[in-house]
Amino acid sequence: MDKITTIFENNKIWAKKVLDTDPQFFHKMSQVQNPEILWIGCADSRVPANQIINLPAGEVFVHRNIANVIVHTDLNALSVIQYAVDVLKVKHIIVCGHYGCGGIKASMVESSNGLIDNWLGHIKDVARFHENELHKISDFNTRFARLCELNVVEQVNNIKNTTIVKNALKNNQELEIHAFIYDIKDGIIRDLNNLPE
Ligand code: CO
Repeated sequence: MDKITTIFENNKIWAKKVLDTDPQFFHKMSQVQNPEILWIGCADSRVPANQIINLPAGEVFVHRNIANVIVHTDLNALSVIQYAVDVLKVKHIIVCGHYGCGGIKASMVESSNGLIDNWLGHIKDVARFHENELHKISDFNTRFARLCELNVVEQVNNIKNTTIVKNALKNNQELEIHAFIYDIKDGIIRDLNNLPE
């Protein structure tokens, strides 16, 4: 069976499994979506949003791009945030980066990857903001991991600086913004604001 045929087969199996557990599931889904979480993550195939937090369809509003970057002028990302915050009234925005991120790594080495280098320029900015700290880390992989973390922190700062989030917080809307990182080596998500010693 080719890959595309497999997609249809798998989809039927999934839909049946969902109906077996909850016969009203798709009917409910067809009425409204009411997610409490906006997930902003990397496009990396190893970091599928719903799957790694074990939440079904309907629970997470998702935006993914290379290296989970939020740029102030990115109309796509801003539209997602605005819809999630203003219309869906999500209670949590989660930026979840991941160790071993190819986008972060590519930004650290002097190589040419074409158009994407312009996008990765945003991560080079993050590295420049934290030059003092990163310079002290001589081991490449340790520096790489730290930049994966710092990138999440900076993207959270960017989100907090959007007019959308600023207005929501000014209006006392219930909204928390989280900086998480996922480890592709053990499947565990860690809170960057609450890392174990
Ligand atoms: Co990545």
